[in-house]
Amino acid sequence: MSNICFIGGGNMATSLIGGLIAQGHPADSIVVSDPNELQRTQLEQQFSIRTTINSGSALKDADVVVLAVKPQIMKSVALSIAAEMNSADSQNNKQQPLFVSIAAGINLKSLQLWLGESQAIVRCMPNTPSLIQQGASGLFANEQTSIVQKNLAETVLKAAGIVQWVQNEAEIDAVTAVSGSGPAYYFLLMEAMIDAGIELGLSRETASELTIQTALGAAHMAKASEVDVAELRRRVTSPGGTTEQAINSFEQADLRGMVKAALNSANRRSAELAEQLGE
Ligand SMILES: NC(=O)c1ccc[n+]([C@@H]2O[C@H](COP(=O)([O-])OP(=O)(O)OC[C@H]3O[C@@H](n4cnc5c(N)ncnc54)[C@H](OP(=O)(O)O)[C@@H]3O)[C@@H](O)[C@H]2O)c1
Repeated sequence: MSNICFIGGGNMATSLIGGLIAQGHPADSIVVSDPNELQRTQLEQQFSIRTTINSGSALKDADVVVLAVKPQIMKSVALSIAAEMNSADSQNNKQQPLFVSIAAGINLKSLQLWLGESQAIVRCMPNTPSLIQQGASGLFANEQTSIVQKNLAETVLKAAGIVQWVQNEAEIDAVTAVSGSGPAYYFLLMEAMIDAGIELGLSRETASELTIQTALGAAHMAKASEVDVAELRRRVTSPGGTTEQAINSFEQADLRGMVKAALNSANRRSAELAEQLGE
């Protein structure tokens, strides 16, 4: 079983570790480095894994190193990891681990610059539902990453939901626009539906329960269906019926155009942030 080291033991790491343990990954092959004592104690108690304040000892024997710190401190963390690995002690002819970065907006160019050009690195863009193992992550690997290492990255990220590989790194910005920021779009739509339901006379509780369950039910149907979402929509839109009236309102207000513009903005901002954070 592969040894997995997490640098940063916060929300995302906790979720990935929870998923890995639930899938039967042995606790004694997971180690977390985090300066936060409370965080370390919680992880030890919850999962019976080893934690340390010292990233050097955590890196020892790691097959995969998951970089799960905030983007703002990624540069200093990556530079200190590179220094640890270059030190005489950690050389020991051991094969270099795979690095998996889940930090938003940190591109491979920066990671390679900080960690070393020869390192195998997978860049991932997860999303918030990963925290309840319902996430969706986009993954992109650099050329130094082997097939075995790609599978390893997949195993780690699948602990928090589904994964999709993309063909070039720029697509990570599109992943950010679709699934990275996506949960907020659905929250906004749900918010608007709840408010509209209340205006139509429902209590907040009833409007919320109906809206949330409808979103969940529609997502389950879309996932289980053999036909695409456009066909599912057509099937519930009877001519002259209530749904048709509502859909016509959305189309007249150019919902599709609004969604396109929103995702384009998110895509552009993701690329801009990568430039800024990589400096
Ligand atoms: N949460 C999400 O839904 C989500 C979605 C997509 C991507 N991501 C990405 O996932 C990464 C982690 O996010 P998160 O929500 O898990 O953040 P988080 O809860 O703040 O976890 C980060 C952890 O790293 C610790 N840390 C700080 N400096 C460190 C160091 N030098 N070495 C090791 N650990 C250190 C922090 O300790 P302190 O608290 O003491 O600083 C904290 O426990 C971010 O880069 C974020 O962009 C998160």
